[in-house]
Amino acid sequence: MKLFTVLTLFPEMFAPVRESILKRAQQAGKLKINVVNFRDYALSKHKNVDDIPYGGGAGMVLKPEPLYAAVRALPESAGRRSVILLTPQGRVFDQALAAELSQYDELVFICGHYEGYDERVRSLADEEISVGDFVVTGGELPAMIMIDAVSRLWPGVLGDSLSVVEESHSGELLEYPHYTRPPEFAGLQVPEVLLSGHHANIARWRRKEAWRRTFLRRPEIIEGILERLLLSGDDYLLLEELAREMPTLAELRERWQFARPPLKARKNRRAGKAEQEDGEGMNSGRDLCGADPRSGV
Ligand SMILES: C[S@@+](CC[C@H](N)C(=O)[O-])C[C@H]1O[C@@H](n2cnc3c(N)ncnc32)[C@H](O)[C@@H]1O
Repeated sequence: MKLFTVLTLFPEMFAPVRESILKRAQQAGKLKINVVNFRDYALSKHKNVDDIPYGGGAGMVLKPEPLYAAVRALPESAGRRSVILLTPQGRVFDQALAAELSQYDELVFICGHYEGYDERVRSLADEEISVGDFVVTGGELPAMIMIDAVSRLWPGVLGDSLSVVEESHSGELLEYPHYTRPPEFAGLQVPEVLLSGHHANIARWRRKEAWRRTFLRRPEIIEGILERLLLSGDDYLLLEELAREMPTLAELRERWQFARPPLKARKNRRAGKAEQEDGEGMNSGRDLCGADPRSGV
């Protein structure tokens, strides 16, 4: 079981992570979310947790003592634990960091509020994390975003673990478009290929649309892929096809020209034929191989 411990002044804010898929995962004993009000660890009679900043200035600063006491009072962890301080000054959270954090048995989140923490609180943390380059009023929403993103990578939390493998940011490309019934709605049709039942063609269409979508929405991801990876034959052919449809993508063509197309395509090329590919052997998209293009392979 994965354990999330949250240190916050606003425990009631955590209702959303007790609903839906995370609720089922908690009921099934896959994970536990333990919310602790660190005001309970304040030393003063009035349970003060903040004070004015030394040197003056706006806002109140969280005192170190209650947070130190709350962290020290945590029960011994059964496995690997990481203490995370939520701050807009931290390492920016993304899918790769979610995967890294999913390796821990327990994550402890320290949620700030007001103007932030007394600087000495930072020494409690193994890692400082930000959910993006913007500032929100407290660490509670960032903690919930991270709990959700990390939980769904934990085996058994999502019904179908393939959903995690295929979705945006888990591989290199954004996910392909989805459709469900009806086949026509408001004059908009579901692409014919998805109704065909032809698995190889569907996989090929999805992979191609994932490339297209990523290029249109996040061109820097495509540039990164072409910088780092040698394309598989399937991807090479898909990019060639897309480049014929999208002149702006064609401008990047020289970036993938180093990749050797599969034999069949080379023969077609020599014979002056356009590259055609029947989709056989196309998998769902985890086929970028990791060789360095500059190695001259
Ligand atoms: C209003 S913010 C304080 C910001 C602080 N004055 C600064 O400039 O770094 C209050 C708390 O919200 C949380 N917070 C705000 N933005 C965040 C972000 N982008 N990522 C993670 N936590 C954030 C942190 O816990 C922070 O201590």
